[in-house]
Amino acid sequence: MATQTLALSTTLALADGLPSSASDAPTRSALAALSGSLETAEDTLRALEAAGTVGFRGLDTEAWELDRAREIARRLRAETSTLLVLGIGGSALGASALDGALGPTCEDEHRLVVLDTVDPFAVRRTLLALDPAETAVAVISKSGGTVETAALFRTVLPWLRDGAGDAWTRRLVLITDTTHGALRPLADAHGLDALPVPDDVGGRFSVLTAVGILPAAYRGLDVDALLAGAHSMADRVRTRSIDTNPAWAFAGVHDLWWPRATVSILLTYSERLTLMGAWYMQLWAESLGKPMEEGRAYGWTPGGARGPADQHSQLQLWQEGPADRIVTVVRVEEHGADLTIPTLSGPEDGVGSYLAGTSLASLLEAERRGTTAALVSVGRPVLELVVPRVDAHAIGELIMLFESATAIAGLLRGINPFDQPGVEAGKQYAYGLLGREGFEERIAEVERLLGSP
Ligand code: PA5
Repeated sequence: MATQTLALSTTLALADGLPSSASDAPTRSALAALSGSLETAEDTLRALEAAGTVGFRGLDTEAWELDRAREIARRLRAETSTLLVLGIGGSALGASALDGALGPTCEDEHRLVVLDTVDPFAVRRTLLALDPAETAVAVISKSGGTVETAALFRTVLPWLRDGAGDAWTRRLVLITDTTHGALRPLADAHGLDALPVPDDVGGRFSVLTAVGILPAAYRGLDVDALLAGAHSMADRVRTRSIDTNPAWAFAGVHDLWWPRATVSILLTYSERLTLMGAWYMQLWAESLGKPMEEGRAYGWTPGGARGPADQHSQLQLWQEGPADRIVTVVRVEEHGADLTIPTLSGPEDGVGSYLAGTSLASLLEAERRGTTAALVSVGRPVLELVVPRVDAHAIGELIMLFESATAIAGLLRGINPFDQPGVEAGKQYAYGLLGREGFEERIAEVERLLGSP
């Protein structure tokens, strides 16, 4: 069976597809006129790829040691029933998103638990619910020095040693920077398995490296199809036309609307895509919220939303609140299950007359179209993304599409989408408060800014 692919439509995000009241919205020809800038952004991305600085589109199985990641996952599956992932940000969100999307249709009984918090209640509750004799642990941190992951690691290690005995060294795998990661010496000292986060792949772009692939393989997800989907999208996002390149279209439309719109919502009509929304939020926010070359700040406030639940929560704001957002509505064509709403006997309640005999999939689709129409009717831009079905191939495509669109969106504005210097300030204040040597002066700064505790 030929695999259907993801399709992105920009029609309802441009003046041509919006009511005449939105005639000042960016037009199709404005998007076409952006081609030159998109070419330049693509050229810059290729130059970064050629220089070995940016590698997320390369999907380099060998350098990323994906076969070894899958082999380690196979061994851990034979010895345990749960994989506990310790990581945060780009070292956790991708694994959760993959499991959230593909786990529900996976018959496999191996479980994945992702701890990306130092909330003591949550950590304790997680550990109490797991049997350390039956659990493998993956510590994922590109730098190895992230305080939350380091703290989780130190908390979990004695628990694992007590539960697994001498086998603990076989149950622990470290995924970190190839050479500089602070976890490397530990791996060497105890002969632990260690997998790389490639130098040229940043945390939030790393879900298709061992960072996401080891947990996915452990969970029994279809890694081959995931990577095949990513490969096919990697080919599409290298084409040089808005009509064939959905990353250009997604980035281009956002670029044209900015700064009139500064909020980007991913509204998914499939429960299985909810955690993809959280993953998208980190990618879009951390990559693009930066000063531009001319000193102005660029950026988008991203949001993930669930259809239809958030129609009863946020749609009022989107429809009648500030016209400052683009909503990407994700339609899933085949849900893999359906239920028909039965006729209820008894008094007519005014709903049964049109609901009886309707399928839940048709109801969901009517809600998606209704919401889209409500937004478009008042000139609010909607990008429509069609996912044939939530399977590993489509999720691979989706990941590569959003990663590429993020890179292009940043490069269009002359910013570096691959760093995150702004995250450092908060970390340094926290180091001071925790008593880390060299950060003492930060305590006084915190007290000056916030007052005494
Ligand atoms: O995208 C990023 O680089 C960050 O969000 C990181 O993933 C996050 O800070 C965790 O970093 P590390 O993997 O070094 O622990």
